[in-house]
Amino acid sequence: MLRFDVITIFPDFFREAFDYGITRRALAAGLVETKVHDLRHWCTDKHRTVDDRPFGGGDGMVLKADPIFAAINDITGFRRRGDYPKDTRVVLLSPQGLVFTQSLAADLATIASQIVLICGRYEGVDERVAEALATDEISIGDYVLSGGEPAAVVVVDAVVRLLPGALGSETSATYESFSDGLLDYPQYTRPPNLEGLHVPDVLLKGNHAEIARWRREEALKKTERNRPDLLKDSQV
Ligand code: ADE
Repeated sequence: MLRFDVITIFPDFFREAFDYGITRRALAAGLVETKVHDLRHWCTDKHRTVDDRPFGGGDGMVLKADPIFAAINDITGFRRRGDYPKDTRVVLLSPQGLVFTQSLAADLATIASQIVLICGRYEGVDERVAEALATDEISIGDYVLSGGEPAAVVVVDAVVRLLPGALGSETSATYESFSDGLLDYPQYTRPPNLEGLHVPDVLLKGNHAEIARWRREEALKKTERNRPDLLKDSQV
């Protein structure tokens, strides 16, 4: 059982986020559990203040560290990164993080039994969260979201579908984009002729060796066109 704890100032964002597809099935099957926590629960002042002005000046507000420290202590039972058990990961979602990849998703799916996701705000999170609490700081890509919430949904989805038993067929996760360094080959289904747009002949003929060769070539072409960077470090 893998448990996700999401810490956010927008808990309503997640109201139905995990109620679809593979995540829903994994939840129903008891493979995962998700709990969403409102950060304001750990704000002790009258106005439940989550942010404050940056030391040193500058625009915008910074998410305060102290409520996050209290939240992590309550949720994990530990006060500092060095105290967590090996299978606890505390992930800070921020544009300054390590870029999320399939191999990082696989690492989380393999190693963790508890993943705490801290949703930052784009203007920043007090750095002591990254210094003393987070085992991982993750960005889902080189663009700036207004907060880490969509990124948390992305991480949960990518990790859950790698858990043994989460996909219909145990093997399907190993044959898809990125696990072999190439993008997926193009797929078609019926009808074979859609307004004059034809499914490639080779797929209709049932010669499996030919089909395998065609798929590999097409995957290579598509990777060259859309993601030449993937070819540089793959052994294809
Ligand atoms: N918060 C804002 N932008 C983000 C990004 N690209 N990835 C993760 N969290 C973020």
